Amino acid sequence: MKILLFGGAFDPPHKAHVALLRAAARTIKPDRVLVVPAWRSPFKAAAHAAAAERAGLVRAGIIKPLRRLLGLRLSLDASELRSRRAVYTIETLERVKKLQPGAELHVLVGSDNATSFDSWKSPSRLRREASWWTARRPGAAGPIPHFFKILPEKMPDIASTDIRLRLLLGEDVSRWLTPDVAVRIRREGLYGIRLRRRLRGLLPAPRFRHTLAVADLARRLARRWGIDEEKAALAALLHDLGRAVPAARLPGLTRRLRLKIPRSAETLRRSPLLAHSYVSEHWARERFGVDDPAVLRAIRRHTLGAPAAAEMSSLDKALYIADSASTDRRYRGVEAVRELAFRDLDEAFKSSVAAKLRHALINGEWLHPQGLALWNSFRR
Ligand SMILES: [Fe+2]
Ligand SMILES: [Fe+2]
Repeated sequence: MKILLFGGAFDPPHKAHVALLRAAARTIKPDRVLVVPAWRSPFKAAAHAAAAERAGLVRAGIIKPLRRLLGLRLSLDASELRSRRAVYTIETLERVKKLQPGAELHVLVGSDNATSFDSWKSPSRLRREASWWTARRPGAAGPIPHFFKILPEKMPDIASTDIRLRLLLGEDVSRWLTPDVAVRIRREGLYGIRLRRRLRGLLPAPRFRHTLAVADLARRLARRWGIDEEKAALAALLHDLGRAVPAARLPGLTRRLRLKIPRSAETLRRSPLLAHSYVSEHWARERFGVDDPAVLRAIRRHTLGAPAAAEMSSLDKALYIADSASTDRRYRGVEAVRELAFRDLDEAFKSSVAAKLRHALINGEWLHPQGLALWNSFRR
């Protein structure tokens, strides 16, 4: 009895998963195939769609089309999803062995997972217990361990990370998904679709357009500077949530929510609009379920920055710049800042801080002490 296990996050499942499993089934000719979605990978903070949603996607996107095509005994093994914790592959192998003693085990993983094999739990035992299979994906990075058998078929260059990012940015990804998965994702509003719908309902139209422009620039800056693109896009989409309320209501709201704002009383009296980024952070967490501290911090810092430039992470800077130099901004020199941001992130950040102070000065506005401290920190 030959059993083929196909593991991964499948977040979401796409056409390359189908191609990979089809190629493996043709070569290995297993008696049974188990597709095993991880509740979450031990390496990742959290999956992006809930377990039940991913189980549905795997059924629609992998099990259904391949069962028809291959006539295989193909099933979804939801035990890792049900366990509600990160399950090591060695545990899954031992469980399957117990259920089918004497079975010949084969494990198929995507090439991105294969490259991280050495950091898995009990790699030498894993190697003894099963034969390991993968295929090369053109865009995948890192060497595949030598004991992996590599399927000769050319795989399409598709990665779930990229699909999620594009969905978050509202781009069309249907060519990479099986039709049933595309329909399900849209219907259930997964991977940022629901988030964008809510955002469009909350923000006034020009603010929503600005938000999309910021997300586009933040994502391109993230790619340029090796920052997590998904985090940058998410932070950008939610950065102006606080602008959903009129400026006049911000002081009351800020006090009611007990938000910590530098020089709070003075800020709320003199320039209440500056409080909006703190409201954005609060709502990103409370209403949109964002729990990534790096994303929340970038949202909070997009207006006043931090007391010193050295405290700003690359993600913080990328969002700050993207917000002040997005394509919908019209001040003199904005194109130069935008262009500079792709050559020198720190210099562009400095220019953005300067542009903000200049704008406040020209309009006779109050200068927030933290904005001044930030500027002075460049001069040290
Ligand atoms: Fe803002
Ligand atoms: Fe903004």
